[in-house]
Amino acid sequence: MSHVKTAVLPVAGLGTRFLPASKATPKVLLPILDRPLIQYAVDEAFAAGIESVVFVMGRGQGAIVDYFDMSFELETKLRERGKDDVVASLEALRPADGHISYVRQTEPLGLGHAVWCARDVVGDQPFAVLLPDELIVEDPPSLSRMIDVQAAHGGSVVLVDEVDPASTASYGIITPASGDEASVLVSEVVEKPSPEDAASNLAVVGRYILDPVVMDILGSTGAGSGGEIQLTDAINASIATTELRAVTVGGERYDCGSKAGFLDATVNMALKDPDLAQRMRDIARGIVSAS
Ligand code: G1P
Repeated sequence: MSHVKTAVLPVAGLGTRFLPASKATPKVLLPILDRPLIQYAVDEAFAAGIESVVFVMGRGQGAIVDYFDMSFELETKLRERGKDDVVASLEALRPADGHISYVRQTEPLGLGHAVWCARDVVGDQPFAVLLPDELIVEDPPSLSRMIDVQAAHGGSVVLVDEVDPASTASYGIITPASGDEASVLVSEVVEKPSPEDAASNLAVVGRYILDPVVMDILGSTGAGSGGEIQLTDAINASIATTELRAVTVGGERYDCGSKAGFLDATVNMALKDPDLAQRMRDIARGIVSAS
């Protein structure tokens, strides 16, 4: 049994790249096909053996709470119309009571601060962090491999992927040291370095297993890149006392924080969907032959 039981999902971001849609709908509720981004992240966490998820919410995001609640009126109407199978599929997606909780981040002070807001719920145990706008399609989830690496070595583990060297300023970038097949030791992680300053093109892609020392360090971490309290800075400071390792994405990754990444994810998930794959291929062929 894993001792990583809790996952923190920061969802308080303003979603400025998805305005105006994100004005009234939290970014993590935007759907890839028929499922909101947040559902993919929650499913992934539970599939990796996580027992409870805690959302860090900002203002105006009540729709996220509604999304994970039972919709009594909707389910009653569906039952009246004989759609018990649809009700059952909705029920299957809903985390059981007690396995989901919400904390508030009253000011948008950065990802590090958002994670720190969950400290009382997390307690003194290693914990996971999932950023829902990174959609990772891998079965079993890369998060499971990360949990195994953490169990074997202790310390913290981040998930990394190779990115275009020109785009390092969008990510936390690691300096890899020695490694084996499952993971590499990390000697430094820097938030959003320019391509000239980046030590590699291995980017941290929104999945973390963190030693509780990172939570302690976050409590005294000042503003960093972009004037925000950065999770990367606290993880980097933790290397002085606990090991940091990196695991590489084995499946597909879509950066749904950008419109192009969101579109890429939508098209590729449609190609995987038995009901949509043929239609999606036809659409794509039509576009290619017209251009
Ligand atoms: C955040 C993290 C960054 C990470 C990225 C992954 O940045 O701060 O280290 O590489 O997520 O998507 P953001 O995309 O919130 O600017």
